Amino acid sequence: MNNPYESQSARISFISRQTDNIKLFRFELGKKIKYQPGQFVELSLPGFGEAPFAPCGDAKENYIELCVRNAGKLTAKLHEMKVGDKVGLRGPFGNGVWPLNKYDFKKQKNLFIAVGGLGFVPLRTLILGKDDLLGSGTKVQIFYGAKSPDDMLFRHEYDRWKKQNIQLELTVDKECVGWKGCTGLVTTLFDKHEVVQNSVAFICGPPVMYRPILEKLQKLGFADEDIYLSLERRMHCGIGVCQHCAVGPYYTCKDGPVFSWAQLKTIPEAI
Ligand SMILES: Cc1cc2nc3c(=O)[nH]c(=O)nc-3n(C[C@H](O)[C@H](O)[C@H](O)COP(=O)(O)OP(=O)(O)OC[C@H]3O[C@@H](n4cnc5c(N)ncnc54)[C@H](O)[C@@H]3O)c2cc1C
Ligand code: FES
Repeated sequence: MNNPYESQSARISFISRQTDNIKLFRFELGKKIKYQPGQFVELSLPGFGEAPFAPCGDAKENYIELCVRNAGKLTAKLHEMKVGDKVGLRGPFGNGVWPLNKYDFKKQKNLFIAVGGLGFVPLRTLILGKDDLLGSGTKVQIFYGAKSPDDMLFRHEYDRWKKQNIQLELTVDKECVGWKGCTGLVTTLFDKHEVVQNSVAFICGPPVMYRPILEKLQKLGFADEDIYLSLERRMHCGIGVCQHCAVGPYYTCKDGPVFSWAQLKTIPEAI
C-alpha cells in the first residue's frame, strides 16, 4: 500500500497570472494523479510547509493544475517560483466529492452552481469535463460573484464555456469603471435571473455567502439533499488522523470536503 504521507515530485510546466494575487500553476508528475472533481491535494515545499489545494484542470490530462492565492508563507514562496521549479504533491484526498454519479445528469437533472471568489476553483474541473461528466445536453447555470472584474478567475475561458450550453451570470461587489454588468453580492443574481428548473445545486466560496444562498435555494424549493457545498478547514494530515479539520461527527478531509446540506444542517459550526 502507498504511504499517504509520501509526496511525489512535481515540476511546474506553466504559470498564468489570474488576478493580482492568484496564479494558476500546471504541474507535470512522473505518474498521473487521478482525481475526481471536489477532491484536494497537499502541496509541500521544504522549509515552507504543506497546504491543501483543489485541482482545477481537466481531469483527463496527465498534469495537475492548481489555482493558488498568495495567502501566507507557503503560497508566497510558490508565487515566486518559475517554470522548471519543483514542489511535492500528495493525494488526492477527500471522499466527499461533487456527487456526479448520484444524479442522471445526462437525461434528467440540470446543474446550478453558485460560486464566490476563489470558490470557482474546484468547479472548473467539472466545467472543463462537462460533456463527459454531465452530458453535452445538460443545462449548467453558474452564478459567480467576484470583488471586481479584475478579480474574476478564468476570464479568457468564458466565451468557450457559453458555447457548451453553460449559462454564466456574473456580478461584482461594487460599481467600477468599465463594468456594465450586475453589481452586488452573488445573491443579487437570484433577483435578476430565473434559476434553471429541475436542478441540483453546488456551492463554493467564502463561508459568509453560504447562508444567504441556502435561503434563496430553499425558497425555490430545493431539497436539503440536493444542495452540496464545499467546506474549507485548516488541514494537516489530510487522511482523518490528526483531527484538525473536524466538523461535528465528520472530518472535512476524509468525509468531505463536499457535503450535502442534509449532512450539515444540524451542525451549528459547519458554516
Ligand atoms: C480542501 C481545501 C481546498 C483548498 N483549495 C484551495 C485552492 O484551490 N486555492 C487556494 O488558493 N487555496 C485553497 N485552500 C486554502 C489554502 O490551503 C490556504 O490558503 C493555504 O493553507 C495557505 O497556506 P500558507 O502557508 O501560504 O498560509 P499561512 O501562512 O499558513 O496562513 C496565511 C493566512 O491564511 C489563514 N489560513 C490558512 N489556511 C486556512 C484555511 N484553510 N482556512 C482559513 N484560513 C486559513 C491563516 O490563518 C493565515 O491568516 C484550500 C483549503 C482547503 C481546506
Ligand atoms: S486534516 Fe487531519 S483529520 Fe483532517
